[in-house]
Amino acid sequence: MTFPERFSNLPPYAFPRLRSLLAGIEPGGVPVDMTIGSPLHPFPHWITDIVVEHAAGFGGYPPNDGTPELQSAIAAWIARRYGVAVDAATQILPLNGTREGLFNAALALCPEDKNGTPVVLMPNPFYQVYAVASLAAGAEPIYVPATLDTGFLPDFAALPADVLNRTAVAYLCSPSNPQGAVATAEYWADLLALAEKYDFKIFADECYSEIYREAAPMGALTAGKDLDPERVVLFNSLSKRSNLAGLRSGFVASGPENMKRLKALRAYAGAPLPLPLQRVAEKVWADEEHVKANRALYREKLDFSDTLFDEIDGYKSPEAGFFLWLPVPDGEAATTQLWSKTGVKVLPGAYLGRDYQGTNPGQNYIRVALVAPMNELQPGLTLLKSCIYG
Ligand SMILES: Cc1ncc(COP(=O)(O)O)c(C=O)c1O
Repeated sequence: MTFPERFSNLPPYAFPRLRSLLAGIEPGGVPVDMTIGSPLHPFPHWITDIVVEHAAGFGGYPPNDGTPELQSAIAAWIARRYGVAVDAATQILPLNGTREGLFNAALALCPEDKNGTPVVLMPNPFYQVYAVASLAAGAEPIYVPATLDTGFLPDFAALPADVLNRTAVAYLCSPSNPQGAVATAEYWADLLALAEKYDFKIFADECYSEIYREAAPMGALTAGKDLDPERVVLFNSLSKRSNLAGLRSGFVASGPENMKRLKALRAYAGAPLPLPLQRVAEKVWADEEHVKANRALYREKLDFSDTLFDEIDGYKSPEAGFFLWLPVPDGEAATTQLWSKTGVKVLPGAYLGRDYQGTNPGQNYIRVALVAPMNELQPGLTLLKSCIYG
């Protein structure tokens, strides 16, 4: 049996690739892991009691569309955070983390034809599920550079009209992983105007939206609040906001027509969130105190990083999120050198990007996740600086 062609050209996933790169190389010091964006700050301690209280719910199948209480808690959070009213019953679907939703949304909402083979746009570098989702939907993924020159966000408007005419979906990640760039009101207005002109949907991946410094980043729902609600599909998650990556809990919100399709696909092929975990998610979305504390911890880490790297040519201090995107002559060489000389482990930027017109925009970068506790992070980053930049 041959492997399905549409997935056969996928590069190995970033983390196995990193393991191969460093296989057989001894760390040059006590290992400090700065590779994966798996949060390590504390999650709200009170969630355990909620799981126990509702443990009987593990015995039955959970409701496909989420409990009304969870839908309402998410709608209330959207109203507070984005200043937009959405209908809890028809415009919210709880997800098992946003990765699942980002994938399934392409299957549910990308047409099979749009002036030919549909196109799905995405920034380059990017969160890798976008590419697999578009291939699974039979669309053509187009990797649009998000570089220092473009403010680390993709310039979709610069694409040729024939590509835009075929565009069905554009993924946008703001705050962006890996660069920490935030789409401004102006950026959103331009992108939404482009989406209106060429009639495509925007899949807004906002899972880093709560890890910011001073001002909360504008979200897609706020930017698009006067437009057709089917234009924007918003994804958000408790993974980074609440340090609950293992809970697998997020949501998708959009217009009722999009939501009908998403819910139908979920009913046939999806895995709804276990009921006790829906009860937890409901309470976690309603609480902002732990989010403020989490933000303060990241702010400290970002400020410390700035004191070290501000003087480095090409360094752009991240506006939000918890990654540094550091310029180096070659990402793989820097990663290997760093590991073998110091034990600090980072990710080569190229593993998050794709070749586009002969270059991979991540090639000359490393991504550094600021997830380790401050007492490991400070010496780790200091070693990184002296090893890579002298
Ligand atoms: C940009 C981006 N989007 C989405 C996700 C998925 O998060 P989750 O499925 O935990 O909600 C991640 C996780 O690292 C991410 O970095």
